[in-house]
Amino acid sequence: MTPSPFYITTPIYYVNARPHLGHAYTTIIADVVSRFHTMKNREVYFLTGTDEHGDKIARAAKEENLSPKAYADRISDEFKALWPKLNIAYHQFIRTTDPHHVSTVQKILQKIHDAGDIYFSEYEGKYCFGCERFITEHELVNGKCPDHGTEPETIKESNYFFRMGKYQAWLMDHIQSHPDFIRPKRYRNEVLAFLREPLEDLCISRPKTRLQWGITLPFDANYVTYVWFDALINYISALDYPNGEGFQKYWPVVQHITAKDILKPHGIYWPIMLKAAGIPVYQHLNVHGYWNIGETKMSKSIGNVVDPLKMVETFGLDAFRFFLLRDMVFGLDSNFSDAILIERVNSDLANDFGNLFSRVIAMAHKYFQGIVPEVDPAIEEEFQLGLARDAAKAVDGFEAGMEAFEFHKAIQSIWEFISRMNKYVDVMAPWDLAKQKSSKKQLEAVLYNLLEGLRVIAGLVYPIMPDTAEKMRKQLGLDAEASFFTLDGLRAWNVLKAGTPLEKSITLFPRIDTAKFAPVPEGEEQNQPEPLKLKPEITYDQVEQMDLRVGRVRHAEKIPKAKKLLKLEIDLGEERTVVAGIAGSYSPEDMIGKQVIVVANLKPAKLMGVLSNGMVLAAATEDGLSLATVDAPVKPGTPLR
Ligand code: ME8
Ligand code: MG
Repeated sequence: MTPSPFYITTPIYYVNARPHLGHAYTTIIADVVSRFHTMKNREVYFLTGTDEHGDKIARAAKEENLSPKAYADRISDEFKALWPKLNIAYHQFIRTTDPHHVSTVQKILQKIHDAGDIYFSEYEGKYCFGCERFITEHELVNGKCPDHGTEPETIKESNYFFRMGKYQAWLMDHIQSHPDFIRPKRYRNEVLAFLREPLEDLCISRPKTRLQWGITLPFDANYVTYVWFDALINYISALDYPNGEGFQKYWPVVQHITAKDILKPHGIYWPIMLKAAGIPVYQHLNVHGYWNIGETKMSKSIGNVVDPLKMVETFGLDAFRFFLLRDMVFGLDSNFSDAILIERVNSDLANDFGNLFSRVIAMAHKYFQGIVPEVDPAIEEEFQLGLARDAAKAVDGFEAGMEAFEFHKAIQSIWEFISRMNKYVDVMAPWDLAKQKSSKKQLEAVLYNLLEGLRVIAGLVYPIMPDTAEKMRKQLGLDAEASFFTLDGLRAWNVLKAGTPLEKSITLFPRIDTAKFAPVPEGEEQNQPEPLKLKPEITYDQVEQMDLRVGRVRHAEKIPKAKKLLKLEIDLGEERTVVAGIAGSYSPEDMIGKQVIVVANLKPAKLMGVLSNGMVLAAATEDGLSLATVDAPVKPGTPLR
């Protein structure tokens, strides 16, 4: 059976601002997803582009003393030039000023108008210039637009309206019968909640007396099209709707990606526009959260906008891509900081992954002159230690995570295997096997398995870190056209051919020097962190005396007048009251239900008048506290050994 094609889109970005971290994130996600589906032998189409009409753009152009088109050309080119530098391999870059897009928008408008779903009417309402739309009373917060913090202006004018209200029940029904239509769930619920209120018709025109920079309505030359009604159509005009081959092939399998800021146009306007135009709706809308800087919103006015190119220059492209995918739980907001990025790169990439790679390659050179060893089938079995099975499990976990847009889980699955490989090295101790002639065959099997494991890892990291995968492929002496970059290829074992020469070892990920914020130069004390300053040595018995237990927080409250303290009621198998100095980093609500590690046999002590019976463990970092916990739910009271 040939796998079905796959179509993935990003939002088309406004050209009123230069590309930043947020745009880079969404577009990298689309690239990763696109590469992943290519690994499943699918024909993939990946669309991105720029949104160039409307008041926002007209104003920005004016500020630069440029015509809107000249201005749009400039910023659009910046986006276009950036993507290849982030290794983003899109298939099409659409601009809403493309003549073909313009005529498609007019075609759809005419179609919906002919069907009677667009009408002309006078309207008075509150208009937010930032949002470029009328906003309803109940959207306002203290009389202001919650997104722009400005008071909307009252505008009265005649305009064209799209009968969205008519399709409200249909959309509700569609979302309810297609649980994955909008994902993750929190955004589906948000749209459903919105649909529980009456849905107002959408004003889809702007009089040319007020705005000229837009697509002229096909049925009234005195008006231009509202920018959202124009922009959303890019997803089908790019495929040559209605007769294009691309439209036939890719539209039935389309998935969109956006952040939560534009949930409403994508979750409500767009499906209704499609329905009204007689076009099938999309398969999935995948919605992610915001990258914040520290705890604050990234914004031009605050001046904390992160430039993706600068990140790439400082930390390396693959490290940057990896960090974005690893650290954000798709759907939730995430904090970006150089410190968190450096920590991730040093521990996950330089240590766990990079070290494994260079160790294995170095051993292959040392013990087998850089040639993939031949494995005696008789010896192989007992020296597998289930490594092939673990690799297959990693591929399954990776696939499931990628399909579900749970990228951090897909990556965790790869890293579990990396950690298995590291253990395999430790347990098999090739350096010991190498000491005796009699264990030569075992040594061959162990090294072969390790190289085979690296091959699987290289393939798994390919969508996220294409350059790294390519370096590993070359190092392992594999052909580019072999089944290397396919999931089927990764599910096979014993693929590497004995006798293949391996290249000399390279450093995949240099450690980042925390002080200089720069990669440590090759050859200079790689992987040698500062020596730890430790407390005096203790004995095993002394460790045994400390009774550590897993507890679950049942209740938490602030202690009046004690800014740093929370009073916790913890289920340890029995109920315990523990006072913890964590209020600077955790609110009482944060704590409810959390699993914590408690020093359970600590002598009780009174803190701010409350008797505390135990101590909660946490790591102190520059950014505050981070609670110690276990990585799966366990029964309260379970001891730690
Ligand atoms: O809304 N974190 O364009 P836009 C994560 N033209 N992603 C972010 C982000 C952040 N802090 N900031 C921006 C528009 N993004 C319309 C879209 S589509 C038919 C028209 C990303 O330039 C994220 O993908 O304001 C968000 O949805 C998009 O940029 C908004 O880009
Ligand atoms: Mg925006």
